[in-house]
Formats: sequence, structure tokens, C-alpha cells
Amino acid sequence: MNEIIAKEEIAPDTYRYQIYHPRIAQKRKAGQFVIVRTHDGGERVPLTIVGSDLTAGTVTLIFQAVGHSTRELAQLGVGDRLLDLAGPLGQATHIENYGRACVIGGGYGTAPVLPIAAALGDAGNDLIGIIGARTKELVILEQELGDICSRLEVATDDGSYGHPGFVTDVLQALLDEGEPIAFVLAVGPSPMMRAVANLTKQRAIRTMVSLNPLMVDGTGMCGGCRVEVGGETKFACVDGPEFDGHQVNFDLLMKRQGTYKPEEQEAAAHGPHCRIGLDAAR
Ligand code: NAD
Ligand code: FES
Repeated sequence: MNEIIAKEEIAPDTYRYQIYHPRIAQKRKAGQFVIVRTHDGGERVPLTIVGSDLTAGTVTLIFQAVGHSTRELAQLGVGDRLLDLAGPLGQATHIENYGRACVIGGGYGTAPVLPIAAALGDAGNDLIGIIGARTKELVILEQELGDICSRLEVATDDGSYGHPGFVTDVLQALLDEGEPIAFVLAVGPSPMMRAVANLTKQRAIRTMVSLNPLMVDGTGMCGGCRVEVGGETKFACVDGPEFDGHQVNFDLLMKRQGTYKPEEQEAAAHGPHCRIGLDAAR
């Protein structure tokens, strides 16, 4: 159990792992995540379940080595075992046939989009995909999403590939073209999800975003992942991680995400002094 069966670097410092865990592979649904620890005393790192293989009994995880704990995770290889893998956690994505739906992934936030796109596709939606990254080599899962979406647009901030600019520039252009989009799902940095929600709110397009606050236990008990949605406090780990993008208090979310920046930088440089999931790898 918990053995790394396959490991692939799909972009610089961005890894795809297949982990042997038949029970999670069997139970998981689109939108859910796991919390992993590499070793006793290690941080608890929440990672979206990107897929599963029921025959092999494996789950697919994709993460970027951005902090101390994800760098430790990236140092493991095929045959190594994670100390623990808790899940599947969180609410599964609500899936229905909206007709024409748009899925938007920013940076390594594109990884959680893949299973949701697959589920929306299976439900009969006609999908437009928009994925963005800072530069060409950081674009991930283009092939996989291209296989699911009837139209896939890529944007890079530096214009090295696809449309120059942000994913929201592409979304704006599609809406201006008159694409009859009835539903949007966006995952990526909080400023991106807020910008998507602002655009779709003007046109009353239903929009879900997957939030990525600090998480500790992942079971609704510590309060670390609290967010404000529609004026109410919610816990992203049990009530989410997906919420109505038009109802999310993004200012508060971003303020809370910045709370432990000095500790994150300290941990990245010298190792963590505590065990909470500062390494927001999802
Ligand atoms: P990044 O900063 O490189 O941005 C990726 C893309 O998002 C950009 O190329 C651009 O198209 C868009 N974007 C960024 N800022 C924008 C803005 N202000 N307005 C409009 N569009 C904007 O992303 P990264 O460094 O790869 O980080 C990925 C982010 O996704 C992290 O913040 C991570 O926490 C988040 N994430 C969330 C989940 C989740 O489940 N909620 C999962 C994985 C990653
Ligand atoms: Fe503790 Fe959500 S991570 S309440």
C-alpha cells in the first residue's frame, strides 16, 4: 500500500505519481483529494486525485515541488512508499449536463481540472477547455484535455505558446464571440479564479471554483481551511473544495493564504518547524 508505482516529471518541478492504493482508487470521485505524508513528523500535504486505474489499483497525483514538503515528496522514486495517504476527502463535484461547459486551468491548477472535465464529458457536456501557464514549458495536460474537450485553447503569460496573456483574456474573447457557455469550472491561483468569477458574473454564467486554503486535518475539525462563501463560514476540506465562484470572499481567502508566507519561506529554506500543511500543493 502507498507504493509509488510510476513517476514522471511532466513539466519542470511538476510530477505525476501513480500510487498503489486500491481502496482510494475504487472510492474516489472527481473533485476529491487526499492528504499525504512522506514520513513521521512530516507535513500533511493535500493533493487532488487526478485519476485512478481500477485494474492496477492506483491513484494519480500531480503536484509541483514548490515548498519544503513537496520537494521531499519529489525526492521519492518508484518503489518508495508514502507514510500515509488519507482519503478520498472532500465533496465530489456536482456533475450534470449543462450543454456547453467551459473548464479553465491555471498553472498546475490544471491538474484538478482533468478529472472534472472527464466527468462532465461523460455526462454529455460539450466542453471548451482553456489552460494557461507563465510560459510554454509549464503548460501541462494539453494532450489529455485535448482528448476530452471539443475545443482547447492555451494561453501563456509571456506569449511563448498559444494566445499571449491570461486564461481570462481567452475567456473574454470566447464570450465576446458569443460562445453559449452555460457553466464554468475554474481552478488555479486565487486571483485567476476571482477574475474568472468577475467575468462570468456579468453574464450570469454559473461558475464553480476549487479553493486551496491552508489545510491541516482535512476532516473539518481544525478550522484551518475556513473560507467565507455567501457570507457564511465554510470548511473547504469537508464542504468543498468547490464553491460557487460568485459567492466566494476572495479578499479574505487571499489574506488568509498570505498569513503564513514568512513561515512557508522559512520552511522552504530550512525545513518546517511545525506539522501543518503550509505547503499548498493542490
Ligand atoms: P501561475 O501563477 O503561474 O498562474 C497560472 C495561470 O493563471 C496564468 O498563466 C494565467 O493564465 C492565470 N492567472 C494568474 N493570475 C491571474 C490573474 N490575476 N487574472 C487572470 N488570470 C490569472 O500559477 P501556478 O504558479 O502554476 O500556481 C497554480 C495555482 O493553482 C496555485 O496558486 C495553487 O494553489 C492553485 N491550485 C489550486 C488547486 C485547487 O484544488 N484549488 C489545485 C492545484 C493548484
Ligand atoms: Fe481542518 Fe479543514 S483542514 S477544518
